[in-house]
Amino acid sequence: MATLPTVFVLNGPNLNLLGTREPEIYGADTLDDIAGRLEDQAQALGLAIDMRQSNHEGHLIDWLHEANRAGAKAVILNAGAYTHTSIALRDAIKGVAVPVIEVHLSNPHARESFRHVSHIAPVARGTIAGFGAEGYALALDAAARL
Ligand code: DQA
Repeated sequence: MATLPTVFVLNGPNLNLLGTREPEIYGADTLDDIAGRLEDQAQALGLAIDMRQSNHEGHLIDWLHEANRAGAKAVILNAGAYTHTSIALRDAIKGVAVPVIEVHLSNPHARESFRHVSHIAPVARGTIAGFGAEGYALALDAAARL
């Protein structure tokens, strides 16, 4: 059987705390809740997903390289606070061919000024922000259409 095109869904620091972390900002869904819905959606779209989370910048970089080497269809990336700080992550995205879709649950532009800068946005294929957990579903639809 041919393998399905795979979309990597990479989540950065503190996103393991979803469900209990500032639910008024990030919602009540856990990352497992989101993963479960994405699995169903991916199946309907004829895609496979590989969902991961790390609190370590280097893991996210290694996984981007891995997604690229594996010929992934796209990477959906919520880099958490590394969005606003990590030149290394930006360079990694710039250095690979796989398209990266930046996702944020909240709308960083409606929050503190230090969240207004994304080092990822200029090198991402596009950005989805402010739609809560639904943003991941929107990103997966976008990935399917690439
Ligand atoms: C976030 C927004 C970031 O500013 C923040 O540091 C996060 C989560 C979001 O999904 O809204 O950790 O990426």
